[in-house]
Amino acid sequence: MAIISKKIKKQFVCGECGSNHPQWAGQCLDCKAWNSLTEVIIDNTISPLLQDLSPNTPQSLNTVSSKNYQRISTGISELDKTLGGEIGNYGLVEGSVVLIGGDPGIGKSTLILQVLANINNSHNTLYVSGEESINQISSRAKRLKIDSDIMLFSETSLENIIATAKKQMPKVMVIDSIQTVMSSEVSSSAGSVTQVRECASILTTFAKKTNTTLIMIGHVTKGGALAGPRILEHMVDCVLAFEGDAGGRYRIVRGVKNRFGAINEISVFAMLEGGLKQIENPSAIFLSNSTKDCAGRVVMVTCEATRPMLVEVQALVDDTSGSPKRICVGLDQNRLVLQLAILHKHGDITTGDMDCFVNVVGGVKITETASDLSVIMAVFSSLSGKIIPRKMIIFGEVGLTGEVRPVFNGNERLKEAHKQGFEMAIIPSQNKPKNFKGMEIIGVEYLVDAINHLSNL
Ligand code: TYD
Ligand code: MG
Repeated sequence: MAIISKKIKKQFVCGECGSNHPQWAGQCLDCKAWNSLTEVIIDNTISPLLQDLSPNTPQSLNTVSSKNYQRISTGISELDKTLGGEIGNYGLVEGSVVLIGGDPGIGKSTLILQVLANINNSHNTLYVSGEESINQISSRAKRLKIDSDIMLFSETSLENIIATAKKQMPKVMVIDSIQTVMSSEVSSSAGSVTQVRECASILTTFAKKTNTTLIMIGHVTKGGALAGPRILEHMVDCVLAFEGDAGGRYRIVRGVKNRFGAINEISVFAMLEGGLKQIENPSAIFLSNSTKDCAGRVVMVTCEATRPMLVEVQALVDDTSGSPKRICVGLDQNRLVLQLAILHKHGDITTGDMDCFVNVVGGVKITETASDLSVIMAVFSSLSGKIIPRKMIIFGEVGLTGEVRPVFNGNERLKEAHKQGFEMAIIPSQNKPKNFKGMEIIGVEYLVDAINHLSNL
């Protein structure tokens, strides 16, 4: 019988949520996903790859200076702000680990190459790609008109990557993508939960011990979650997620986790012939540019972080053929079910025998509840054929009792809508400012007030 040392133990990790289980089961007890547990060997001994790095030592709190983090600018001011910081010091925190996720073809490698070219002017960088050959990267660089001496390394072996990083000691290292890296110490195939977890953990420890800033690119599953174990998200300091249609022109990079800054900060880019170009005033680019008035469209102002942005919510409600469908793009599907129930109970409008589709234009994702009222009004508009005026914005949270609750940053939202030429607003009455010039503002307390107001227009 093989003797297993105490530092090495077997566990089962869920590929969906990253939780650990002592025994195998068909369903994860935490997230209830089926067939998601895989056996992993938890090895608490220090990996031989990291053994020659000096160990950390404890330090007394009052001897630790609380100086601000040293940050490295990415050369893209919008992205720097998404990463966090303060005036004059935005960007990547030195020695931090950043994970970038997004659909294939959305522009992750493009953005990273642009960023590295900027950083390489002042710091040495290493771009490790397990997906593309050096020639492919170089032809992308030509397309982006980048002329830089970034060190490129086409490699998938973790051992070789660490050995090279130790030799070159880059200030910023990129791994494109973490799913392609594999360690010969782990027997499972590349991209498996065990490999990704082990490789990411060793790379992260390496980055922390050597104060290397590490950027890992990660694939996402169809559902939009980062593929491989969620544990990746727990390991890193910052997670940036790409949003937007890969076929469309605009992309949003959103901070979904940030140990060194606020989350939900976004930067908006346009994908052009010469790469991704930041858009410094992205407020109104996510409105559809159709000039025809039609029912089922509502403009709302979303403000998930500090920046208000106008987006268009579209709904299509139609007779069902079969069981009624509720499908959302860019919004939470469960929330739509809830909103339709509220519309039925408190607006006396039923969609029980209808298909309901709701979409946020431009591939934007909205998670804030301030979208409730606009979604319900878009559904109402599509169902009733009542056109919502082009110059009107709607926002507000709707409770289960049909009350319209206030949202934060109400004034900033109104100001932004006014700046973009909107003239009317239906908003929660508690958000209604005493005097706001230039816009007709209707404050509503209950959902039914908003419906009545629109019906009487
Ligand atoms: P890429 O960065 O390879 O995506 P990812 O690494 O996320 O899979 O982006 C590829 C797409 O971007 C591809 O469809 C072509 C487009 N693109 C441009 O439109 N302009 C450019 O300058 C470049 C380099 C790519
Ligand atoms: Mg790529």
